[in-house]
Amino acid sequence: MNRLSRRTLGLVATGLVALSLSAGAIAEDKTLYQRLGGKPALEAVVGELWAITSADERINHYFANTKPEAFAGQLVDFLCQAAGGPCQYEGKDMQAAHTGMSLTDADFAALAENVEMALDKFDVPAKEHGEVMAMLGSLKSAVVNH
Ligand code: HEM
Repeated sequence: MNRLSRRTLGLVATGLVALSLSAGAIAEDKTLYQRLGGKPALEAVVGELWAITSADERINHYFANTKPEAFAGQLVDFLCQAAGGPCQYEGKDMQAAHTGMSLTDADFAALAENVEMALDKFDVPAKEHGEVMAMLGSLKSAVVNH
């Protein structure tokens, strides 16, 4: 083996060690679910979200026939699973759940604003707040215009 390929091998090996160390560090990090405070925290936020949204005339008409407890249970399970928690969401996928509602960008923005208010009520720190909003934002195309 010439000197160049030995050097390349050395660099690759160093890179692999660095990668596995950072993967180890990530694995030890707490999930978003844990950092938010687990299921009681999600239940509190979703309860507040329901209170805000059912009084929000921009979008509350969508929820006119919704049973609050059943819906909150589904939403808690969905968020718990999406945040890396130990829950099993058994409802529809996001597109199927919202098909036929023809939700608009404005509807989505209104709900997102309500989620922000609910997170703020419980003083969710900026990092976790950002992660929750990014997770919801990534679902927008599945939710609107169907
Ligand atoms: C990323 C954002 C959203 C998430 C994560 C989400 C999540 C969910 C979940 C988990 C369900 C239950 C599905 C099932 O039971 O199978 C649901 C249903 C529903 N969502 Fe959303 N949703 C989002 C955005 C919206 C928006 C923007 C609106 C309207 C403004 C909306 C209105 C509804 C309604 C009316 C239902 C049916 C409730 C019922 O069963 O009566 N959602 N959503």
